[in-house]
Amino acid sequence: MPIIAPEDTTTVQNLLAAFEGESNAHAKYIAFAAKAGADGLHGAASLFRAAAHAERIHAANHARVIRQLGGEVTCEIHEVEVKTTLENLKAAREGELYEVESMYPAFLEEATAHNSAAAIRTFTGALEAEKAHARLYGEAIALLEGGKLNSWIGAPREFYVCPICGYTSETQDEHERCPVCNCPWERFEIIR
Ligand SMILES: [Fe+2]
Ligand SMILES: [Fe+2]
Repeated sequence: MPIIAPEDTTTVQNLLAAFEGESNAHAKYIAFAAKAGADGLHGAASLFRAAAHAERIHAANHARVIRQLGGEVTCEIHEVEVKTTLENLKAAREGELYEVESMYPAFLEEATAHNSAAAIRTFTGALEAEKAHARLYGEAIALLEGGKLNSWIGAPREFYVCPICGYTSETQDEHERCPVCNCPWERFEIIR
């Protein structure tokens, strides 16, 4: 049975917290996508699905590092509270902002202090994707609050997700490679 080295204990605890956060965000966004689709907000549903896909990639990346460091991958999935799509978008943005402004910076600081390259890589990938998610959710909230149902939130659309790090983009061919992990752009997954 693998044993966690004493110097990795906190890093593994942080990875487990991040794994739980990403796993629950995935479950939440899948439920929010269904609600947005039922409301006819198909572009918002596409965004929830793309973000859900990215969160699953983050969770898998965190899980791999937890195992590498000798930890056991477990987490609790909470029941999802589905409200109106506007409220769901706001809850999603709140969650992303918490991760961008507080959770991942703190975890990155700890991983950097302990020179844990694998943890730094997985936390960085997630942090950069969550920034894009927060921005896109903010855009959707502004459009919905402005009653702009003829904008992208109203019609199904494509988002592009890096299969390695979960980086999420709303435009095709934005770069030749993922700006976060250097994965070639043609490998990006198209989520509708
Ligand atoms: Fe996210
Ligand atoms: Fe990437």
